[in-house]
Amino acid sequence: TLALLVPVLGGYVSGATPFGYLAGKMIRGIDIRQHGSGNIGATNAIRVLGKGIGIPVFILDFLKGWLPVWLAKSWLATMPEGAHLISTAAVLTGLAAVLGHMFTFWLGFKGGKGVATTGGALCGMAPLAMLGGLLVWLLFFFTTRYVSLASMMSGVGVALTMVILMARSGSWDYVMLGFGVLVMLLVILRHKSNISRLLAGTEPRAGKKK
Ligand code: G3P
Repeated sequence: TLALLVPVLGGYVSGATPFGYLAGKMIRGIDIRQHGSGNIGATNAIRVLGKGIGIPVFILDFLKGWLPVWLAKSWLATMPEGAHLISTAAVLTGLAAVLGHMFTFWLGFKGGKGVATTGGALCGMAPLAMLGGLLVWLLFFFTTRYVSLASMMSGVGVALTMVILMARSGSWDYVMLGFGVLVMLLVILRHKSNISRLLAGTEPRAGKKK
């Protein structure tokens, strides 16, 4: 259990490091939650703080999903009895990081929408599913310019890629698939306000002033 508990706690703490919020506070002295969409994610960091700060926020939010997964896998690989736990530990650690970003302890359990952090976690555990999600993201982003729509659809893309790959190989990894489906649902749920704006036609498109 310790072999699972330590990575999962580490994953949560890593995910709960709110780089978008910290960048706003430390570099501009503003609370990003009171600007733009109010989200602490990279999209709103680009919107409010500019690309020079927002892109590094994306990279850090991605890395905080990837690093704990990579550390968990490497750590378990050094344990003689750890080998059979590697995949489960990676998934639980990645999920903890995503939940840390979405439900951040220090921000009253309010956090971001989890897209960059999910991408990072997937990069460490299921890179092909990450690529599938990325392709869907690019497709929707460049056709609609709605980051939120692209993000939600990329969640669907991740789960779908997993199903296709597992069906083709005939070996079903239900823990991994569970992660894909859960993260898809969580990402969509966290976009509730975006969904209302999309339906009302008031969601801002990327690159346009509101
Ligand atoms: O990853 C978050 C993105 O999909 C939407 O962000 O700030 O436009 O709500 P935002």
